[in-house]
Amino acid sequence: MAVRVAVIGCGKIAERASLPNLINYKDKAEVKVLCDIDAAKARALKDKFQLSGAEIETNWKKVVKRKDIDVVFVDTPNYLHEEMAVAACKHKKHVLVEKPIAIFAKAADKMAKAAAKNGVYLMVEQTQRFDPVHQAAKKILDSGVLGKIHNIRGRIGHAGPEYWSEGKAHWFYDKSKSGGGAMVDIGVHITDLVRWFAGKKIVEVFATIRTIEKDVKVDDNATVLFKFEDGTKGEIECSWTTRPYEVTTAVYGSKGKMTTSIGTEKPVRVVIAKTGKGDDPNCILEEIYPELGSTASGWENAVHCFIDCVITKNKPLVSGEEGRATMAVINAAYESSAKGKWVKVK
Ligand SMILES: NC(=O)c1ccc[n+]([C@@H]2O[C@H](COP(=O)([O-])OP(=O)(O)OC[C@H]3O[C@@H](n4cnc5c(N)ncnc54)[C@H](O)[C@@H]3O)[C@@H](O)[C@H]2O)c1
Repeated sequence: MAVRVAVIGCGKIAERASLPNLINYKDKAEVKVLCDIDAAKARALKDKFQLSGAEIETNWKKVVKRKDIDVVFVDTPNYLHEEMAVAACKHKKHVLVEKPIAIFAKAADKMAKAAAKNGVYLMVEQTQRFDPVHQAAKKILDSGVLGKIHNIRGRIGHAGPEYWSEGKAHWFYDKSKSGGGAMVDIGVHITDLVRWFAGKKIVEVFATIRTIEKDVKVDDNATVLFKFEDGTKGEIECSWTTRPYEVTTAVYGSKGKMTTSIGTEKPVRVVIAKTGKGDDPNCILEEIYPELGSTASGWENAVHCFIDCVITKNKPLVSGEEGRATMAVINAAYESSAKGKWVKVK
């Protein structure tokens, strides 16, 4: 039997990621309920995706209690994730929660605990990990071909939520609902990716978080330095003033370097330097352009991975604990920027 899904929040991410990738997986997943406080939005998606069997609901509390649902997608604004995910876990539903897991690491803790206590999976849709470019890059890193990793850098940027969702009064610019600006919205993507690439804990951060272009009350640009537990150095930048969209990384090791850039012709480039005795380290020993093996988007892979995990009872790639670890870095970055000094990640 297909996994029975309720989607709570019928806005942009439901329209662009959740529903298309549930529908193209219909042997394994069935959309049973579309829930939004605005019934018209739920109805519009029902029509758009021709989900004649899906019920429309406006009260999410009723949805999470339903016995005919196995899985809940939490596709609502950030400040609602905690309450919705915890309630769904209590009612024994597996949860795919949109990024960021929550506004604060403390809330993420509660969510991870609720999932563990109730024996259900909670996965955070940290889409970047599921992009074939980053999957290929992670394989390279795990192979050890770069030697000991010393530095990891990541950048994510786009033109801002006004080009994704509705206008300037939207919840993305209301700190009480979003948790902050670019640092939360997309900083969470690149922080999670860099953490995953490193496979190590970030223990301290130094951040400068600013609003440099947009007439909004939240930040539109951030730069954060990371200290990892073993001394590896990291750096991320996130920006709502970048045109066109980009996600790039650079990893430097004792034997060579790897760069990634999504959307480009050869998105992963690995260069191994000559490092033998007497060799010129500027001479290239080997250059690798790994095959991606898939053209699926990160969104598609994430949704399908979660459904597969529920069916096969395998732990999802981005657990609540992983989401919590990323959010703790974001929270520490805001504190660092406000205080102008290095802050420990709690
Ligand atoms: N993974 C990604 O790449 C990615 C990309 C964009 C957004 N997101 C995340 O997805 C989430 C939703 O963002 P969005 O862009 O779809 O926002 P959106 O504003 O387009 O959609 C949110 C929807 O939630 C509904 N909603 C609000 N309160 C509700 C409630 N109490 N009960 C039911 N529905 C309610 C709204 O009416 C709206 O339709 C956010 O957490 C965002 O960070 C993730």
